[in-house]
Amino acid sequence: MFGSLKPRPADPILGLLAKYREDENSQKIDLGVGVYKNEAGHTAILDCVKKAEKHRFDTEDTKVYIGPTGSPLFNEKMAELIFGEHQVLANNRARTVSTPGGTGALRVAAEFIKSCKAGATIWVSDPTWANHTGLFQAAGLTVKTYPYYDFENKKLDFDGMLAALKEVSADDAVLLHACCHNPSGMDLSQEQWQQVAEVAKSIGFLPVIDMAYQGFGDGLDEDAYGLRLMADSVEEMVVCSSCSKNFGLYRERIGATTVIAKSAAAADIASSVLLHVVRVIYSMPPAHGAALVETILSSDELRNQWYDELKEMRDRINGNRQMIVDKLVENGVTRDFSHIVRQKGMFSFLGITPEQVQRLQDEFSVYMVGSSRMSIAGISKANVDYLAQSIAKVL
Ligand code: LMR
Repeated sequence: MFGSLKPRPADPILGLLAKYREDENSQKIDLGVGVYKNEAGHTAILDCVKKAEKHRFDTEDTKVYIGPTGSPLFNEKMAELIFGEHQVLANNRARTVSTPGGTGALRVAAEFIKSCKAGATIWVSDPTWANHTGLFQAAGLTVKTYPYYDFENKKLDFDGMLAALKEVSADDAVLLHACCHNPSGMDLSQEQWQQVAEVAKSIGFLPVIDMAYQGFGDGLDEDAYGLRLMADSVEEMVVCSSCSKNFGLYRERIGATTVIAKSAAAADIASSVLLHVVRVIYSMPPAHGAALVETILSSDELRNQWYDELKEMRDRINGNRQMIVDKLVENGVTRDFSHIVRQKGMFSFLGITPEQVQRLQDEFSVYMVGSSRMSIAGISKANVDYLAQSIAKVL
């Protein structure tokens, strides 16, 4: 049976990591995968996570199955993190399940949408995270795109986006990035969210919000502005969230899928479908990451420490944005790269050609995704001069 298999190319994002690890150039720079790094280029474990792990080590007393929903306390804390004091929680219209990371959350959402309508269409931004399309197609959804980023002018193509969304059918789903758009770093303003929410309401399509970077844009509540506004406007929506980045729990694989339904009774039905989806894919989620997150979010001390550590990550990334733009100017680059400072979150498009990206990799050991998506956290005071010089050379 295996004889019919054709080899598949390496994943455009994860494949870079393997290449970077093999590169022996001591000046190599990793701007590939969306992983936070400190000034020393290390992805350290957050102190609040270390404390929560100690607590778990001391108190965990069973490894018995956790069940398809995952930990109820984690689900409750995640719903609060996502929605704050929103009426959807007070009205008991939200149901959350713990998932294996943000990717697991998206797959559960996709299977859930398929249960609502076989072969449903989901609209994704052009461009979007490289894994969205494959993931949704693998779940049997039809994927279409709406305009989002204007590569030429390095800004949002909001008119194009709105016009496309007005043509979406009522029984389609539309994927929106809550904040820190991956890969462009270009987010909707509050006014633009209001317009998108109005279109969603008037057409009745299902908003599916991917929030993988809550806290990396402007702050935890600020980054949830759009999705909370959307929840004010529509009766049904889905939110996929991740604890990989904001808790630094990449390898623990912990995220959540939250479904908002019209009423508590409809939410119960949706929840039963979610549980079935989970059971037939992976039965139940891993428990460790969820236990750490719920411990942190249940303790005033650990929660405050997490806020501080998250702010430190956010501030460092924002500082890096200005630093690389300044260094490019210092190195005689006349082309305008100021869009990098206007963008949010882990990523920005540098805006160079795939050939120039390849030269950066081959000649200078600077690794970024072929679209010229840079993971800004990989920049540091120690490597920014070399990075700016390398970019200046390929330009
Ligand atoms: C990324 O976009 O780099 C991250 O979300 C990691 C991944 O799984 O692709």
